[in-house]
Amino acid sequence: MRQIYPVAGPELELITTATTGPLPASVAQLADLYRDGTSGPAADRPWIRANMVASADGAAALAGRSGGLGGPADRMVFYLLRSLADVILVGAGTARAERYKPARESRLWVGLRDGRPPAPAIALVSGSLDLGGCEPLLSDAQTIVLTTAAAAAGAGGTGARTGQARIVVAGERRVDLGQAVAALVSLGFRQILTEGGPRLLAQLAQAGLVDELCLTTSPVLAAGTASRIVASDPAADRPDAVTGLVLAHVLTDAGFLLSRYVKGLSHHMKGMADAAARQG
Ligand SMILES: NC(=O)c1ccc[n+]([C@@H]2O[C@H](COP(=O)([O-])OP(=O)(O)OC[C@H]3O[C@@H](n4cnc5c(N)ncnc54)[C@H](OP(=O)(O)O)[C@@H]3O)[C@@H](O)[C@H]2O)c1
Repeated sequence: MRQIYPVAGPELELITTATTGPLPASVAQLADLYRDGTSGPAADRPWIRANMVASADGAAALAGRSGGLGGPADRMVFYLLRSLADVILVGAGTARAERYKPARESRLWVGLRDGRPPAPAIALVSGSLDLGGCEPLLSDAQTIVLTTAAAAAGAGGTGARTGQARIVVAGERRVDLGQAVAALVSLGFRQILTEGGPRLLAQLAQAGLVDELCLTTSPVLAAGTASRIVASDPAADRPDAVTGLVLAHVLTDAGFLLSRYVKGLSHHMKGMADAAARQG
């Protein structure tokens, strides 16, 4: 894998399996790249980073799962970003489709955990609490289920547990993503990694909560009916809510592009804003 933007970088050794002991040089360099150029979490706010993969024609899944879109470089970045996270925020649709399990210490770079727990917690967003298939996740005491007051009432209220996982209420009839993020911050989580899915990410983007997007573009055409990586529920009929992004870096490996964008006013957005200002 090698960096191609903003400057060409040296070849980085691909390491997709974490090992204990000192960080390999390529992992340390990659971690620096993914920490670079952002303010990160501040005293009064968290940092929300999304990590997603898409086909060249924008599909977020192949046969209902994202795994077929990835490759070794994407896997390396996936585990690196998990290693840098305090908590992983994920929608129940993804947890069910991808059969989520607790993040495993053995798959993470312990040298990047900086005195934090060995693995990040997983916070699951669900309105239905219909979490069949998520039993491994629910059997972990670190797991948090962010849900509605209505759903929690049926499960024993906030602070109750489903399996070993803790229930946290963040909204009345829908989970309010602002409240959900505030609840995570109050639990001490500041570096939040969201792994989607598309409907959860759409709500985070609509609420202006996405600080960073790490996007792997896979060299395939999917040509099916899969959603984009950010996709509002059609029934929600929401207007566009544009987040300006600045391209921070691009890496490439075997035809895959690994782009990192941070929230900001890109040249394109600035041009549009200037044109609007000129028109009065
Ligand atoms: N390409 C990628 O990087 C990537 C990443 C992740 C997922 N995916 C793919 O995306 C697909 C799943 O996408 P998705 O959009 O259906 O899943 P999603 O966003 O992960 O989950 C949607 C579900 O999350 C819960 N939810 C989300 N917002 C809520 C809110 N405000 N209030 C209450 N509950 C809320 C609901 O769960 P309940 O139904 O339990 O109420 C809802 O059905 C899968 O095919 C997966 O493989 C791709």
